[in-house]
Amino acid sequence: MNLVPQPSSVTERAGTYILPTDLAIDGTADQAAIVRRLLSPGTGLELPAASGGALKINIDPALPAEAYRLVVDESGVTITAADDRGVNWATQTLRQLLPASVLRPAPSGATLELGHVQIEDQPRFGWRGVMLDVGRHFMPLHDLFGFIDLAAIHKYNTFHLHLSEDQGWRFESKKYPRLQEVASWRTETRKHLDDAGDGTPHGGFYTADQLRAVVQYAAQRGITVVPEIEFPGHVLGVLAAYPELGNHPETGYATATEFGIFEEVLNMSDDAMTVVFDLYTELLEVFPGRYVHVGGDECPRKEWMDSPAAQALAEQRGLPGPDHLQRWFTERLRDWLAERGRQLVGWDEINDEGPLAGAVTMAWRDASYGVTAAEAGLDVVMSPTSHTYFDYYPSTDDREQYSIGWLLTTEKAYSFEPLNGIPAEQHERILGTQCQLWTEYVPNMRRVEYMLYPRACAHSEVAWSSPAGRSWAEFSTRLEGHLQRLDALGVNYRPESGPRPWQQGGTGTLRRPDAHRH
Ligand code: ACM
Repeated sequence: MNLVPQPSSVTERAGTYILPTDLAIDGTADQAAIVRRLLSPGTGLELPAASGGALKINIDPALPAEAYRLVVDESGVTITAADDRGVNWATQTLRQLLPASVLRPAPSGATLELGHVQIEDQPRFGWRGVMLDVGRHFMPLHDLFGFIDLAAIHKYNTFHLHLSEDQGWRFESKKYPRLQEVASWRTETRKHLDDAGDGTPHGGFYTADQLRAVVQYAAQRGITVVPEIEFPGHVLGVLAAYPELGNHPETGYATATEFGIFEEVLNMSDDAMTVVFDLYTELLEVFPGRYVHVGGDECPRKEWMDSPAAQALAEQRGLPGPDHLQRWFTERLRDWLAERGRQLVGWDEINDEGPLAGAVTMAWRDASYGVTAAEAGLDVVMSPTSHTYFDYYPSTDDREQYSIGWLLTTEKAYSFEPLNGIPAEQHERILGTQCQLWTEYVPNMRRVEYMLYPRACAHSEVAWSSPAGRSWAEFSTRLEGHLQRLDALGVNYRPESGPRPWQQGGTGTLRRPDAHRH
């Protein structure tokens, strides 16, 4: 069966059931739409809603959120779910019980035979996230839909869309159009400081309307989009568009062409705050979910410390010094979001001046930041570089393409235990876990697929499945079977045996000498 992520329990029984061509769905119109969306394209079945249909859907509110039971017997298929998301995940499991070709968006004529089975399943964590950085490299709109499809197969329910970076701003603003006109592109890309640059402009942005479609498409598949526009650091693109928001407008700015951490940050003036709130107002109109990400990582304070204007602002706001301007900013934004029924999420630097009550901490520098935040009573998403940064090298194979960071194998990703070090009374504070795909060296969706899969297959199981009895040996065997599904979809995943010839690093001249540090 090779189900990924592994359900809580699977009981196989003798007998088979073949989905008949006139299979109908006995459920509400909304539930039938969920099942039809996922099952109809690849099977060619019309799946009309009809009372007495052999694919039955029941809601059982006593089940935990997102949980489901899936039974296949001689009478057909019965899904009992806690909620609509549960119906979604049950249907994803049903798709995995069928031939892999059923995952494609058009029918292949495969026999739609199911073994009799009873599956009970529920997620371990409520936040099962995957982050995509479209700031460093823009990914065309149509790629996002396939990205969501793959995430949904793995029962991820959160798509964190990282929409702004020094190297590019991707969110259309009606009020500040220079963001899409200027900040959304850079003149070229330099892989590293010794690289002469590729001389090729890079850019793109999504219109508000396009992003609404992404939100809707994801929601139809049980996934909430968490948007991130980043302040007060990682803003070179914003400053290129609106230099008056920077600390040195007289020098001018350009959207960054190389990667790293830049000293140039928002000047924190009242005018800058107005722009920030205007932009978040536009963001909230597009993204209806509860969680909104402010970024907040890697924000150097040197410009503020050196700036008489920033020093005056700090004094006027009653802060101990200009180095507290970020904290002041994040608290304002937290309160502003709360007034609108939303909750701020930030990278763990938001707690550098002490636990930021009411915000969700995304622990990335190290899991210990998550432990500290949870102990302080904050909600936490465990996203540490050690186990969830899939922009890191997937192996020490010299044939790997130029990447960032250290080594993070599929086995290491699978070994992650998000509750490690968390006192039992704080377990509830760990909302879940999320994997990250930063795209400095990931120029397109083909490469995204290579870096994410199969490591995200492993991570999805960390996020969804019970850890009891978990074994890498068992998972790696099951994974080989599961990868046939990605083969059927033509996903450019990395085989565990090593990169395919066309996935390798070419001449190697761009490989960083310290690339394979462990
Ligand atoms: C991060 O990786 N800078 C959040």
